[in-house]
Amino acid sequence: MPLVSMRQLLDEAAKGGYGVGAFNVNNMEQIQSIMEAARETKSPVIIQASRGARAYSQDRFLYHLMIAATEIYPEIPTVLHLDHGNSVETCKSAIEMGFTSVMMDGSLMPDGKTPSSFEYNVDATRQVVEMAHAKGVTVEGEIGCLGGIEDGHGAGLDGLSHLTDPDQAVEFVKQTGLDALAIAIGTSHGAYKFTSKPTGETLKMERLIEIHKRLPNTHLVMHGSSSVPKDLQDIINQYGGKLKPTWGVPVEEIQLGIKNGVRKINVDTDNRLAITGAIRKVFMEKPEEFDPRSYLKPAREAMKKVVALRMTQFGQAGHAGDYTPISLEEMADRYAAVAQ
Ligand code: G3H
Ligand code: 13P
Ligand code: ZN
Repeated sequence: MPLVSMRQLLDEAAKGGYGVGAFNVNNMEQIQSIMEAARETKSPVIIQASRGARAYSQDRFLYHLMIAATEIYPEIPTVLHLDHGNSVETCKSAIEMGFTSVMMDGSLMPDGKTPSSFEYNVDATRQVVEMAHAKGVTVEGEIGCLGGIEDGHGAGLDGLSHLTDPDQAVEFVKQTGLDALAIAIGTSHGAYKFTSKPTGETLKMERLIEIHKRLPNTHLVMHGSSSVPKDLQDIINQYGGKLKPTWGVPVEEIQLGIKNGVRKINVDTDNRLAITGAIRKVFMEKPEEFDPRSYLKPAREAMKKVVALRMTQFGQAGHAGDYTPISLEEMADRYAAVAQ
């Protein structure tokens, strides 16, 4: 089946009361890991690429790898989503290339660092909604800013400085007409989210619940949702790595989110940790190896294990065959009918 719109996956997830992991990729092995995990668990898939991933893969490689994924795994509804689009132009180029969903992250200025004004965010997001919906493509927006600056998608402050304001969230959804809303509740990108297991003081699940009460029909998105498991940290450090002690978002908090309107959960760091640990292990244990497959195969397997586990924990497992994909043309017609 062709790549499908994210809106359909999230609508189905809302009906079924489950969440869908959105996993970042840069290369073939990561795509293979996710698709294999999806086949094993019978899960729908959201694969996302950042601007960095698009540059790394020269865009076209990524696109054609995704087409290969749809050919090899025809039973899996698969979305190609732009993660943290920084401008209307970036979203436009993604749509032109065949992404079936885009994030316009107007919570930050195009530099990806400076918090923007509410008016700027509404204006940029609304422009993307108009352009995307005309083609049946889904739009995710963000209100409030994540913490951290590690990866260039954060305000560089702690995770609590720019939490999402529920009143603004309601207004933002009304004024933009987006499909999914990313909110800031204390998480940040990367491995170093919390210095101890998060509590209600550092991870504001109450805020999420309040936003869901105010916007019961909006699909919520949790960014920075890697759990940074201790066992994956330990493997890296055991084989010569130097990660400092750190905590991520506990899976049970994500599950609480899913009970309260979270439909998309962004995970990148956990997979990076799994890949790096597996490669370090081969390098340390078999220093005579130099065939890249000798370390990329275990890396692919390690990432597949993490993804399959998250798919099961988020509840998307078993749902790949629930529905017939709606074409982007049909999605465009539906958006147009609602707008009239
Ligand atoms: O949102 C951040 C993702 O982890 C992607 O990170 O910009 O380093 O590809 P990246
Ligand atoms: P993590 O760094 O927690 O994996 O978050 C990824 C993310 O939010 C991508 O947009
Ligand atoms: Zn993110």
